[in-house]
Amino acid sequence: MSKSSENINPAAKAKARQAIENLKELPSMPAVVVQALNLIDDPNANINRLAEIISTDISITTQILKLVNSAYYGFPSQITTINKALALLGFNKVKGLIMGVAIKPMMLSDHGKVLWHHSLRCAVGARYLAKNLRCGDPEEAFIFGLLHDIGKTVLQIQNIDAYKEIQKLVTIGADILDAERTFYGFDHTDAGKALVEKWNLPMIIGIGIAHHHNPLKAEEITSASIVYVADRITQDRLRYPVFKQEIIDALDYEIPDPEGMREEIIRLSQPIIDAFS
Ligand SMILES: [Fe+2]
Ligand SMILES: [Fe+2]
Repeated sequence: MSKSSENINPAAKAKARQAIENLKELPSMPAVVVQALNLIDDPNANINRLAEIISTDISITTQILKLVNSAYYGFPSQITTINKALALLGFNKVKGLIMGVAIKPMMLSDHGKVLWHHSLRCAVGARYLAKNLRCGDPEEAFIFGLLHDIGKTVLQIQNIDAYKEIQKLVTIGADILDAERTFYGFDHTDAGKALVEKWNLPMIIGIGIAHHHNPLKAEEITSASIVYVADRITQDRLRYPVFKQEIIDALDYEIPDPEGMREEIIRLSQPIIDAFS
């Protein structure tokens, strides 16, 4: 993923930041999650210390055990302790799961499960693509997929009526980012980037979010395109054309059967959706 290119309109970026500052119910990261993520990024991190931190939150511990025992990971026997779960998964996979547990309440909010399920499918899809195309770190791709649309929650919290109007316009063919900018002055990529910056998550996540509708603006198109492709094939309903031609033309790989890949990713994501519910 590009580390330095930023193509965000500065006015939209400022508006998105301001909108987040003004939100009455500002989404926050639970303290345990922030501590756990910081520890994972520490080169001297140790599994026992991470297990200690996670164990202080019974709900996060229970959800991680449920996830690690899901068919998605396919471990042959039941894993009953957080230490064993962390040892089997490794830091990188744990990071994605902790992030998922942290953002789930926000992604579900009052507006149904569509965004949450799409985000999980996109995460699984991005991981699948990164792994199969041998492009980038699959666990990092999982996190990008999980968070790519998080900015939509900011738009929903700020003005749910405007958000519903936008959804109606999108179903009749409007471009989602254009519609969002018309109603809010910024779009969900601006809002998502501003939110992860507010949370002090690594900058690279914000850059990934910023480019997920147009990877051509990223310095490294191939890795930026992973979330774009995963996002397009995991839409609630497949929209045609599935990919923008100019983007497909710029890629150094092919997705010859997006419908088949969609089915495969939906199948792979079901155990993780079930374990998260
Ligand atoms: Fe999006
Ligand atoms: Fe999306």
